[in-house]
Amino acid sequence: MRWQAHTSLTSISDLDREDIDRLMALAGQMAGARAPAINTLAGRIVATLFYEVSTRTRLSFESAALRLGGHVISVADAATSSVAKGETLADTVRMVSGYADAIVLRHPEAGAARAAADALDGRVPVINGGDGAGEHPTQAMTDAFTLHQHFGRLDGLTVTFVGDLRYGRTVHSLMALLDHYELRAVQLVAPDGLEAPAGGILGGARVERIDSLADAAASTDVLYMTRIQHERLPAGSSAPAALQVDRAVLDALPAESLILHPLPRRDELPPLVDEDPRAIYFRQAANGVPMRMALLTHAIG
Ligand code: NCD
Repeated sequence: MRWQAHTSLTSISDLDREDIDRLMALAGQMAGARAPAINTLAGRIVATLFYEVSTRTRLSFESAALRLGGHVISVADAATSSVAKGETLADTVRMVSGYADAIVLRHPEAGAARAAADALDGRVPVINGGDGAGEHPTQAMTDAFTLHQHFGRLDGLTVTFVGDLRYGRTVHSLMALLDHYELRAVQLVAPDGLEAPAGGILGGARVERIDSLADAAASTDVLYMTRIQHERLPAGSSAPAALQVDRAVLDALPAESLILHPLPRRDELPPLVDEDPRAIYFRQAANGVPMRMALLTHAIG
């Protein structure tokens, strides 16, 4: 086990396969629990410090803490905090570490969670709730948990990543997570200019770039859709059109496969997809609570 209790989780590289398996099992136990059925956070305070917009990540962390009998303090919009007066991230987290037992941080700069954890030098754990185009490890854990619930395993899956693979931090973290398993195949479908930084081998499988979404869909277990990260495109550049799940893609997709999306969705998932039994993204979003209950229990329970 790599992730020690009371230490930070800033990247998937803080976890090994045993940690991931154990946290998925713990999330399975947490699913369905009603507050405060499991009091692992009794008397503990979680600070959510969000320098970037969020709905799911912040609310599911807060829901998770409350369901575990803990308390929450929150900066949902850094423009309302002393950041607006020019306070540095290091100073802010140093201060918040005096008010809370863990800090969940979202920040527009890649590497910010690691920098915050370094500034705190182990005083309280920092959990990365998304750092720019870097990583989003707790979303990847939620995604993996959703896949494991359905398939009973992660080994042997064919996974297709679609959309903004360059700036999409959930993709970066989920790829790093799946690299701990033995995948059957990995397929990437991205608009020009938004390709994943690395190719090569992932989870023991060769990574294949495919142009047609319908072709990729035909042989996959998992269609992991993502939104174009408009806010991260270089200023002045125009966004490519989103690759969309349409009727032809749904027809090509095997019956036993799943469509995931970290949400929020844009044009890549038109509402017609919601009716499809393979569309699991709202359940995936709900799974953020039991997974974050497991993560918080490990971090400070
Ligand atoms: C993602 C994020 O913030 O990276 N959202 C989330 O946390 N579920 C995905 C996105 O914004 O596209």
